[in-house]
Amino acid sequence: MSVIQYNELISAASAARLLAYAPYSGFRVGAALVTKAGKIYTGCNVENISLGLTICAERSAIATAVAQGSKDFAAIAVVTEGKKPAIPCGACRQVLAEFNPGMKVLTATTDGKVQEFDLAELLPLPSQGILEGSRDV
Ligand code: THU
Repeated sequence: MSVIQYNELISAASAARLLAYAPYSGFRVGAALVTKAGKIYTGCNVENISLGLTICAERSAIATAVAQGSKDFAAIAVVTEGKKPAIPCGACRQVLAEFNPGMKVLTATTDGKVQEFDLAELLPLPSQGILEGSRDV
């Protein structure tokens, strides 16, 4: 993906962040997924008074994209406020890996610091996980 597309994806995640429902933590997160065909789907965190039922921005974007017929993801951008970019939590890494363990993960702050990862480095050995092994029993 080109730098221009990366910028577009980060902008989409930034816009989605403003829609976050985060009254408990005050920490708004925006995510934008792009498919291999170039379609963009966004998500934001949706908190709940139970805290445990909170939905992260990345999983919200995945659910939106899948519900609209896309599963072939190339990259995700995640935007947060703070001194340095925040990397997706473990649960989100696993949900992203379900669709493409090799996808690119861009993380950015609202003031423009950007980091780029391969999902495989954030979640090593995705196809040797205990859940994957359970398919062979
Ligand atoms: N959060 C995300 O949206 N994505 C992550 O990868 C980790 C955390 C949200 C959940 C909660 O609303 C807030 O950030 C603070 O944890």
